[in-house]
Order: sequence, then C-alpha cells, then structure tokens
Amino acid sequence: MAKIEITKTELVWPGKYNEDGTLKEVPRVSLPFQVIETINESRATREARKEREKQLTLFDIYEGKEGDTFEEGWKNKLIWGDNLLVMGSLLEKFAGKIDLIYIDPPFATGADFSFTAPIGEGGDEVFKEQSVIEEKAYRDTWGRGVDSYVAMLVPRLRIMRDLLSQSGSLFIHLGVQVNHFIRVALEEVFGAENVVDEIIWSYGTPSGGRAAGNKIIKAHEYLLYAVKSYGAHIYNKQFLRYSEKYINERFNKVDEEGRRYQPRKRVDEKGEVYYQRQYLDDAKGVPLSTVWSDILQTYSMHLVKRAAEETGYQTQKPEALLERIISIASNPGNLVADFFCGSGTTLAVAEKLGRRWIGCDLGRWAIHVTRKRLLGIENCKPFEILNLGKYERQYWQGVTFGDKNDKAATERALYEYLAFILKLYGAQPVEGMVHLHGKKGKAMVHIGAVDAPVTIAEIDAAVDECAKLKQGELHVLGWEWEMGIAASNEGKGGLMHEAAKKKGVKLLLLQIPREVMEEQAAAKGDVRFFELAYLEAEIKQPKKLTAQVTLKDFVIPNTDLIPEDVRSKVKKWSDYIDYWAVDWDFQNDTFMQGWVAYRTRKERKLPLSSDPHTYEKPGKYRILVKVIDIFGNDTSQAFDVEVK
Ligand SMILES: C[S@@+](CC[C@H](N)C(=O)[O-])C[C@H]1O[C@@H](n2cnc3c(N)ncnc32)[C@H](O)[C@@H]1O
Repeated sequence: MAKIEITKTELVWPGKYNEDGTLKEVPRVSLPFQVIETINESRATREARKEREKQLTLFDIYEGKEGDTFEEGWKNKLIWGDNLLVMGSLLEKFAGKIDLIYIDPPFATGADFSFTAPIGEGGDEVFKEQSVIEEKAYRDTWGRGVDSYVAMLVPRLRIMRDLLSQSGSLFIHLGVQVNHFIRVALEEVFGAENVVDEIIWSYGTPSGGRAAGNKIIKAHEYLLYAVKSYGAHIYNKQFLRYSEKYINERFNKVDEEGRRYQPRKRVDEKGEVYYQRQYLDDAKGVPLSTVWSDILQTYSMHLVKRAAEETGYQTQKPEALLERIISIASNPGNLVADFFCGSGTTLAVAEKLGRRWIGCDLGRWAIHVTRKRLLGIENCKPFEILNLGKYERQYWQGVTFGDKNDKAATERALYEYLAFILKLYGAQPVEGMVHLHGKKGKAMVHIGAVDAPVTIAEIDAAVDECAKLKQGELHVLGWEWEMGIAASNEGKGGLMHEAAKKKGVKLLLLQIPREVMEEQAAAKGDVRFFELAYLEAEIKQPKKLTAQVTLKDFVIPNTDLIPEDVRSKVKKWSDYIDYWAVDWDFQNDTFMQGWVAYRTRKERKLPLSSDPHTYEKPGKYRILVKVIDIFGNDTSQAFDVEVK
C-alpha cells in the first residue's frame, strides 16, 4: 500500500483511501427516474404538461423539464430508493439547485426503522420491527460501528455539497455517539470556514427510563450546520419569545395608551445619555442561540399536539424543530431536501411553509407514511412519487453479474442472474428448456427479467412448456407484472389461472422482493417471496356519466407468512387495507390519484366505496384501483368500463 501523506489534521477511517493513496470516491451513478404516482394534479394539467413535454411512454420517465416554480410545472418529489443512487441521479438536474438539506441519518439504535402500526377499526397496535432491507441498512451502518457509519455518511455528504446552491445550507441531526466524528469530516468536505455552528437540541426533561442508570442523563442531540459558501448563505435571524418573568421584570412601565415598555439607555453622538422606550409589542424577542431547549421531542409533547403530529414512526422529529431550521436557512419558494426523510417531517413542514421539496427514503413504509402525512395537509400542492425502478435493477444486475458490452459475458451474466434468484428461492437450475429456468420440489420455475414486466404471453408460454413436459405446477417469479395479472391469481378462478388449470398446470405468481439486491440480506437468506395479493372490486354507474368503485375483497394468499400478532388482530379482509385510491382514467402510464381514502391514527374507519366520479363525456375508460396494505405493499387492478 502506498504511503498516505497526511499534511493536516484529519479523520481517517478504514476504507477512506485506495491502495494507491488516493481518496476513495463512491461511484456517482446517474440513472433515470420513473414517476410511479402523481398526487393532487388534475388530469387536464397533466395532459397539458405531457403535450408540452411530448413524452408518452409506458411509465413516465422523469426528464426534469419542468420549471422551478409551481406555475412552471414544478412538482414536489418523494423518491423511494437508496439515497446514494438517488442523489447521484439527481445531480444532473439539481447540482447547485438545492437551498437547504436537512438529514437525520439513522444511528446506533434498532428503533431507527421500527414503528407501531394500528390495525383495523379498533386500532389495536402492533409493533413493527425493521424489515430485512431496513435492518440491512442498519447493519451496514452499524455493522462495524462508527467506522461503517462514517464510511456510509461522508461520501454522501460530498454529493450533498454538490447539490447545494451557492446560498445553500446543510443541517445534520446527530447523536452524541457520532457527532464529534462527523464534525471533523464535515470540515474536510465543506471547509472549516463553512461549518457555521454546532447546535445543541435539548429535547426534554429526564423522566421514566431515561432517568435510570449510573450516569448523567442524556437529554440532547446535535445539529451540525454547514453552508456551501459562508457569507453567501441564506440566513434569517430568529428570535424567541421573552419569558413571562423577563416581561414582568423588564417591561414594567405602561404608557398613556396602555402599551407596555421598558426604558432603554442609549448614548447619542455627543456622548449624552438618554432613554428610549422599547415597546413589548414592537420587540422581536431574544435572538436565537445555539442551545435550543424550547422544543420538546415528539414523545414528550403535550398530548393534543402529539396526537396531531405523531405518525407512529419511532424516530420522528417534531415539526417545530424543522420549522426553525427551514425558517433560518430558506425562503418561500426555495428548494428543501431530506434524503433520510423517515415519516416526512421535513417535507410536511416545507409544504406548510411554502417551500418546494424533495424527499427520499429506502423504506417502503416510510414512503407510505410520508404520502399519507402530506395528503393530510390542507391544499397540499401536487407531488409525485418516483423510483429508479428497472434502472436500479439493471444497474444491480450489471454490477453484480457482469459486463454489458461483452456478448458472452452478458449471456453468462443472465445465467448467473437466474441461478442467483433460483438459489434464493430454494430452487435448482434446469437446462435445455426455453421458458423454464428451474425446479423447486415438484414445481417448475420461470423467472421474469429485471427490466420488463412479466407478461401474460410469457406466462402462457411457460405454462405450455410445463404442459408439454407433463409438469403439474409452475411458479412464476417477477419484479413487475403486466397490468391485470394479479386478478388471475390462484383461488379466484382468474382467467390466467383457469387457463393454466385447463392445461393441467397449477400456477403460482410470486413477487421478487427488492431485498434481493441487498448483498447481505441475500447472503443471510433473509429474502422472502410473497404471492401476489388479489383485489376484487365492483364498478357501478349510480347516475348518467358517473362511476363508483366498491371494494369487495382483498386477499393476501399466503397468510402463513404474516406475523401472528398481526394476523390475530385482523378481523375481516378490509383490515389488511391501509389506503386505497382510484385513477378514473388510467392511461397505462403513471397512476394519477383521482380519489383516495386511508386510515389515520385518529380515524380508523375506512370507506369501502368511493365517491361517484362524474366524467365529462361518455366512452370507454380504464379505471385503476390501487390498494396499499398494512405492510406497505401495493396491489393494483385495472377495470375497463363503458360510461354512458
Ligand atoms: C432517523 S430516521 C429519520 C426520521 C425523520 N427525521 C422523521 O422525522 O421522521 C432515518 C431514516 O433514514 C432512512 N435510511 C437509512 N438509510 C438510508 C439510505 N441509504 N437511503 C435512504 N434512506 C435511508 C431509514 O429508512 C429511516 O427512515
């Protein structure tokens, strides 16, 4: 290994430098975003935008052509994925464009990903442990303690710096275990002159469990505050209200009009002393310092305030904290981002304060909680949910299995991909067949491609091959599915399943989970393949030109895989549903939410019939119904209707 020349005081961690002594950079991959859902945008606005942007693809690929204001078509963005790939992919459009980034990266506690979720109308709570992928992110971050934490965060800070505008700021929320390390690294990435402050958030008085133990009770966390370029940064000075004691002691005079004031000693140009009245109603208050002790953590708040904010997310931060940060370092219309957004506190506050926002999280549940939280904000502006979809999978396949430019290598990569998925599924590869890739027990297995949905024709071909070989069972594993396939699942006599049965083949459709791409989860065998859920709905036309959807059934086929504490609380099929939404005129591209219903912590009842929707003209329409279950999984089903 080359000798590393250390010329100044710096933080070094295992893996910081390459063998040759150069700084190890993480690859900055730029992948296209897919828009998977649009919320609160009217179809007319959408069509006009599409016409402008001339993009009519199967999925909306985000092309970043919109302007920087809502009038110019800007939509806020909630992105599901690993923030390393997500931020890398944002660079092309957003380098130098983000005005404020707040992050609250998970640190040494399993609670970072766990949450309590109420079930059904009674709202009995179950505690959800972190999922495999979340646990993996946690293990990655803490597997080697502080070393891996620093190695995870610092490369991301470099990308964040590039995303910030010249007047931009970064606030990092940290615990006492890591603050000192990250502060040193932050000075290296931003320059010591741009690390403005270390803020102590003293979040509440010690009580209960926190008061036990043999040491002084910890009651604070840190916020490290850095700017892209000191002096050019946005800084709005904040003031706190005077205390009652201060007001009573100081503002103890009242003028002829009944206004309270205190006499302030001043000296004029000639050096003569005079007194000026400082009126209480004119006074701004006490300038904010670096110790913030007036904001309680979510779980210590007054019950009414807590009930209004609480989402069940264990590490949720109070809105008041984000209000302060966003007010200090941004102005209305500015772009605010949170790349570890959790329950979406930053985004909710940015929305309420008239900022534009981008949020990212890798947890399915975090994205779902955030979506509901934003929907609960009055007049929430349109926003879209994006991911890197098949591009992330292609990238993973390329990085994991081979080189795209070499044909032989590509074939080998495909073979290795199939072998890898088969192994995770507990199946053996089979050779010499066209559509069948493996065998598990008595069942044959077909695996869908990473970059295309499994089609009905593809399943048919695999069923035919099974029938020809007199094999009685087929398991099809897919990442994405052609619209309408889920309804054909086992037990419901769907066309697909019926057709397979007629050919003597029992058909099972299983979802390949995102965890497959996570090396450690895969290595540990932590990967589960769930059968596709099934959704039944009835579409009625209560009046001329209207349609109304009623959910009739929702089936999660393999309930054995559902944790017992959840299963025991579920009384009826609808208890599995947390949220459902309807796109009244689905165009085979992005789901556009036209009507929505969901449970909140306060309102546990879920209507199973939508409001009637009125169409402008008669015709054939495709209605897409999307259900999100209590595990955060999506199931969508399309219905073709003729509206008269
Ligand atoms: C401490 S929580 C954030 C809580 C948030 N401040 C709030 O008020 O709800 C950290 C979040 O970071 C997310 N996370 C961890 N690693 C990530 C990664 N590599 N990419 C994106 N999100 C990640 C986790 O899923 C978790 O939701």
